[in-house]
Amino acid sequence: MNIILFGPPGAGKGTQAKRLEKNRGLIQLSTGDMLRAAVAAGTEYGKKAKEIMERGELVPDEVVINIISDRLDEDDVKNAPGVIFDGFPRTVAQAEALDKMLAEKGMKLDAVIVLDVDDEALVERITGRFTCAKCGKGYHEKFERPKVEGVCDECGSTEFTRRADDNEETVRQRLEAYHAQTAPLIEYYEKAGIVKKVDGMAAIDEVTKQIEEVLDQLA
Ligand code: AP5
Repeated sequence: MNIILFGPPGAGKGTQAKRLEKNRGLIQLSTGDMLRAAVAAGTEYGKKAKEIMERGELVPDEVVINIISDRLDEDDVKNAPGVIFDGFPRTVAQAEALDKMLAEKGMKLDAVIVLDVDDEALVERITGRFTCAKCGKGYHEKFERPKVEGVCDECGSTEFTRRADDNEETVRQRLEAYHAQTAPLIEYYEKAGIVKKVDGMAAIDEVTKQIEEVLDQLA
């Protein structure tokens, strides 16, 4: 089963993708995570992507299309029961390229799960987000704190990081890019009849439940 988790910055795509990986063995394909890894590694396109990401703009289509195409050819993905596209596609050109590459690889999209969240809630979610520096588990100052203050629930690390683009100014630019370039994709996928909407304003566990129900219906 291959799905897209779709929504604006801070909608909960990464949070829910991690849960689906655990619960269903699907593999999360986050272009944001892959680009951040390239930035950290200092690769050529990582250097170019860094400035674009810090401005809150979109990285060129061909860069992310190539990243995803290469990742789909890796063995863990080929042997998985399915994938979760997180943060991809973000433009019509990316969606068309995805359709083409899935057809070539004998794969298909089963659903586009749209997390509906009000813009005002997103800024609070993103500016309060932090991540375990060791295992990458995500948290929020208000909505998802570690069970023991300052200690990661998953791996026990006491070191946490924040993303360079998680400040209010960049979030607003990312939201602008989302509304101008990415939101129109909902119509693109509605034409294909595979859009499923979920209330992304609900609490994290409730959103997971709603997504699981959608996936159960598809199975
Ligand atoms: P990317 O990494 O994809 O970031 P994003 O889309 O902006 O999404 P986020 O990761 O910020 O949010 P999320 O929806 O995953 O929310 P999360 O679950 O963490 O992209 C970053 C940049 O890379 C882009 O700006 C662009 O430059 C570039 N890029 C990436 N892909 C690209 C592409 N395809 N094309 C071109 N450029 C690309 O949740 C946020 C917080 O809220 C967390 O703290 C969480 O605990 C909390 N939370 C989650 N759900 C809830 C809930 N239901 N209630 C309360 N709190 C919640």
